[in-house]
Amino acid sequence: MEEKIDPWGSIQIKDYEETIEKFGIEEIGEVMDSLPKENSMFERKIIYGHRDFGKFLKAVNEGKDFAMMTGMMPSGKFHFGHKLVADMIKYFQDIGADIYVAVADIEAYLTRDISLEESRQIALKEYLKNYIALGIDVENMNFYFQSEGTTNYNKMSKLFSKNVTHNELKAVYGDINPGKTVSVLTQAADILLPQFEENGGPKHVVVPVGIDQDPHIRLTRDIAYRFKEQNFIKPSSIYTKFMRGLKGGKMSSSDPKSHISLDDSIEEAKKKIDSAKTGGKQSLKEHRKKGADVEEDVVFELLAFHLIEDRERIKQIYREYDSGDMLSGELKQIAKDKIEVFLEEHHKKLDEAEKKVEELFPQD
Ligand code: TRP
Repeated sequence: MEEKIDPWGSIQIKDYEETIEKFGIEEIGEVMDSLPKENSMFERKIIYGHRDFGKFLKAVNEGKDFAMMTGMMPSGKFHFGHKLVADMIKYFQDIGADIYVAVADIEAYLTRDISLEESRQIALKEYLKNYIALGIDVENMNFYFQSEGTTNYNKMSKLFSKNVTHNELKAVYGDINPGKTVSVLTQAADILLPQFEENGGPKHVVVPVGIDQDPHIRLTRDIAYRFKEQNFIKPSSIYTKFMRGLKGGKMSSSDPKSHISLDDSIEEAKKKIDSAKTGGKQSLKEHRKKGADVEEDVVFELLAFHLIEDRERIKQIYREYDSGDMLSGELKQIAKDKIEVFLEEHHKKLDEAEKKVEELFPQD
C-alpha cells in the first residue's frame, strides 16, 4: 500500500525522485518544453513533479482559458519559502492565467486553532503585502478568505461530501475528524472554484503546491470526475521542493532562525547567512581536494532558488564550489552581496505595498 502523507503534519523530503515514484506523480521532464515562457524554477527542478501538467500546457498553447489556483494557511512571517509560491503566481499571471488565491482561514481555525481575525491580519500584512512588492497584480486576481466565500462556493463545498466515502477519507488521511473533513471539502471547493459557472465554467487549472498537499489534489481530482451535475476538468498540479531551514532541517515561519524573512534587516539577513549550514568540508585541505557537498548547502539553495537568475552564473558557482575552488566563506559572501541588493529594493517596495493594502482593505 502507498505510504500516507499527513497534510497537517510535518514532512521533510530527502529524496525527491523517491517521492515521485512513491506517490505516482510524473517527473517534470519534457513537458517543460511546452512552457509558453522560460522559467528558472522549472529549469532548476525546483518544480520537480506534476499531475496532468502536459494537458494544462496544451490548453494554454491552444489559446483556451486557463487558471492557476493556490491557497495558504497564513502563519507568521513571509519568508523565502513563501516567495517561491509568489514567484509562481507571478509567472502564471504573466503568461495570462486567471489567478485565484485562497486564504485558508477556515482550515487554520479548524486544524491549528488560529482565529479568523489572526489569519486575516497575517494574510494581509505579510502575504498580500509581499505579493504586491514582488510584482503580482493583486487587483487582477481573486484573493479571498475561505470564511468569506460566495454562497455558491459554500454550497459546493457541502455538496462535494456526497462524492467521497468515509473509508476513502480514512484511507487517504488516516485519523480524520470533522474539522479536517470540513477543511478537505473546503479545499476541494477552492481548487474547483475557477471552474464554477460564475467563473466561466470548465477550464484547465493548475495548482502549485508542496507534496504535503497531494492527498487533497488526488481527492479533488476524484471529486471533479464524480460530480456529475457539472463537467469539471480534472485539475492539474505541480510540486515545488521545500526550501530547507538555514540550519538544515525544516524551514518554519515560527522559528526566525530557520528562515530569512523578506522584512528582516540586511544586517540580520547577513548574520543568518553567516551561521547557515553549508556543504563545505571540515578542513581547507579536504575541501580543496574533495570539493563541497553542494546539494547539502542551504546558502547555495538560497542563491539558486532566489538570488541568481543568470543561468550560466549559477552553473559556474556550482562547478567552482563542487570542485573545491570556491570556499563556503566565498559562497556566503556572494549570497550576502546579493541579498543586500535584493532586500534594499524589496524593503522600499514593501513600504509602497503597505499603502496599497490599506487602500484595498481600509477597515483592517
Ligand atoms: N491546505 C493548504 C495548506 O495547508 C492551504 C490551501 C487551502 C490550499 N486551499 C487550497 C492549497 C487550495 C492549494 C489549493 O497550506
